[in-house]
Amino acid sequence: MPSFPSSRQRRLRRTPALRRLVRETHLAPSQLVLPVFVRAGANVRTPVAAMPGVDQTSVDEMLTDARRAEAAGVGGVLLFGIPERKDAEGSSAWDEHGPVQEGVRALKCECPGLVVMTDVCLCEYTDHGHCGVLRGGEVDNDATLELLAREAVSHARAGADVVAPSDMMDGRVRAIREALDAAGSSHTAILSYAAKYAGPFYGPFREAAESAPRFGDRRSYQMDGGNAEEALREALLDIDEGADMVMVKPAGPFLDVIHRVKTATQHPLAAYQVSGEYAMIQAAGERGWIDRDRVMMASLLSIRRAGADVIITYFATAAATLLGGDWD
Ligand code: PBG
Repeated sequence: MPSFPSSRQRRLRRTPALRRLVRETHLAPSQLVLPVFVRAGANVRTPVAAMPGVDQTSVDEMLTDARRAEAAGVGGVLLFGIPERKDAEGSSAWDEHGPVQEGVRALKCECPGLVVMTDVCLCEYTDHGHCGVLRGGEVDNDATLELLAREAVSHARAGADVVAPSDMMDGRVRAIREALDAAGSSHTAILSYAAKYAGPFYGPFREAAESAPRFGDRRSYQMDGGNAEEALREALLDIDEGADMVMVKPAGPFLDVIHRVKTATQHPLAAYQVSGEYAMIQAAGERGWIDRDRVMMASLLSIRRAGADVIITYFATAAATLLGGDWD
């Protein structure tokens, strides 16, 4: 590489047009996915205190948000359900008339331009708040698989394009793939939360989804924050079991993992900018300490640059709207 003064890195930074011309990473609305929290009823819109701008909604209100997202060019939505009834095994998760199932059916009619994804997990549906069934005070991996498969099949029957298991049980991708195929849903794709780290960044979400564990934490099934190589094993195992896309979560604090998983797998990769990441940016923006829009866009661009093809973010509609204007 030639050195100074024949080389001057600043030459290509002189004007907006030059900078645009040589930018390596681009952010497009179609790469963004909006998470939504759906509950029973009509005309329900309950703000989530720790996530200003995010609401729990009934299906009709969720459609209003989804239509706005679609109009802004957002690529898809990811549905979480808040059931009316919880029990030890989370049986509302496969209720044909649950909020997620009703929401999916409505979206397939009303928003044909959106990819419809569903979160497959039991923590919103169990009375103890863990992501699987309990045996002797521990989450029982193998007994949980069949329940997750039932939930995934029920989402696929309602019309979900993609099911996204977030429970972190071993073997769930294979169990879900086999169940989907047996139910005639071989076309339904699986986005596995392959490298999902335990930790404090999900705090606001647990208020939104009413899914905080009643005792203990999720460290016996979600990953340890010190591990990156383990993420590669998780991702490769999930692909081997039939995952069409893999996810790294959270996104911002794990950019190195996004990069390594993308490089190792060459698979479509999604990154989830989680509730805690959203809350920090939103809160500092509200206080006037940072420029919310600029930090939001910078955070999303960084996640793309690290290697994510798809970003799941509560900012999806806001970011897509800015991208549709003259945002640079
Ligand atoms: C369900 C699930 C969680 C999130 C996505 N799916 C919560 C958890 O694992 O406790 C977190 C999303 C967010 O924080 O925005 N297992």
